[in-house]
Amino acid sequence: MPRQKTLNVLILGSGGREHALLLACLASPLTASVSVAPGNGGMAAEAPCHPLNLEDVGATVALAKRIGANFVIVGPDAPLALGVVDALEAAGILAYGPRLAGARLEASKTFTKAFLLRHKIPTAHGERFTATAPALAYLKTRTLPIVIKANGLAAGKGVIIANAPEEAEAAVRAMLDERIFGESGAEILIEDFLKGEEASIMLMVSGRRYVMLPASQDHKRVGDGDTGPNTGGMGAYAPADVVTPDVERRVIAEIIEPTLAGLAQEGIEYRGTLYIGIMVTRDGPKVVEFNARFGDPECQVLLPLLETDPLALMHDCATGDLHPENVRFKGGAAVVITLAAEGYPGTPRKGDVITLPVETPPAARAIHCGTKLDASGKFFTNGGRVLGAFAHGATLAEAVKHAYALAEKIHFSGMHYRRDIAARQLNRK
Ligand code: AMP
Ligand code: GLY
Repeated sequence: MPRQKTLNVLILGSGGREHALLLACLASPLTASVSVAPGNGGMAAEAPCHPLNLEDVGATVALAKRIGANFVIVGPDAPLALGVVDALEAAGILAYGPRLAGARLEASKTFTKAFLLRHKIPTAHGERFTATAPALAYLKTRTLPIVIKANGLAAGKGVIIANAPEEAEAAVRAMLDERIFGESGAEILIEDFLKGEEASIMLMVSGRRYVMLPASQDHKRVGDGDTGPNTGGMGAYAPADVVTPDVERRVIAEIIEPTLAGLAQEGIEYRGTLYIGIMVTRDGPKVVEFNARFGDPECQVLLPLLETDPLALMHDCATGDLHPENVRFKGGAAVVITLAAEGYPGTPRKGDVITLPVETPPAARAIHCGTKLDASGKFFTNGGRVLGAFAHGATLAEAVKHAYALAEKIHFSGMHYRRDIAARQLNRK
């Protein structure tokens, strides 16, 4: 662990995940300074924000050098998939996040499917295609529902679950022939549908060592009761009880251990967050996806559940000096409710004035996602997911109560949010 007040941190990103990372850095005794690029309104109120195109790796390295950053935390997937960590390291700057080789676990679904099958890690059966005719022929041999995925990054939209043969065929044609996801869909994966309950397992990894954060659950559909179109995430809570001690044991033995062993065997030294999206099926947990970064909104509930300094952990992962046995968690539960803009998840309206409460309920706070700060100190909506109403509580019920109390005190025109975040778990008791 580095000495106190020695890290000049640069956080890359602009969403709720990055605001949560900023709050953790601001609270860390290791921080000498912290800035963000490009950031959002909430972050601009708390730290210097630098304009940056995150897909410009050269500009990112130049910025880190110019401001004297000695530790860069990469929030989103796109810069990881472009090799920003490799480039920063080549410039002598330590960074949290996997290098290009490790980031492929998120950037290429076909690479990941082959990796999972090669290492006998439980996942849905799937095959890859680059031509329409064999893909359509393969569809005829499988049962419905069936899942069609664009190989590359598609901003969370590249997955279609087809319930009818025509839908499946249309999805294949849209990706391979019409290239609705551009080159990301030049190669597709067709995989069997997994029935069960989803959960997110986030690991902070340093080679073969890792810290497993509490299991969490996101809410992807826009409407109550999991209805309507998919979103980036309408809310999250942790710990998620669907990952029972037995499921957790199986996740460790059947998924985590073989994944980290497989990476090592293939010469990939993975350092950073490994997000394992699992489906808890009747036959046990199976991998739905890997991401090479913290989930958002999951990150907003996970970092505050760490008693150990998250910045110290990220730094230890990056230097290869992680000691998982020393990591401590807070008790209780955390929840965040996404407050979304008019039009989201379609084209969100921007520029609505946001009113934030002067006093917040205990252990609650607003996390900024798509917001903008003007010169007079007012916040405006500036994206689809605008804010997260976050709370920590001794119990999940208490956290939920405080988070909704906070949500009710926040206003902007067109604001909408789900009323049933964490309800599935609360109702199970
Ligand atoms: P992905 O981008 O691969 O995580 O897929 C996005 C979402 O689609 C997942 O979070 C699941 O809700 C759903 N999904 C993906 N693959 C499957 C599958 N094989 N079976 C059931 N649902 C899936
Ligand atoms: N919350 C889902 C994700 O970050 O991919």
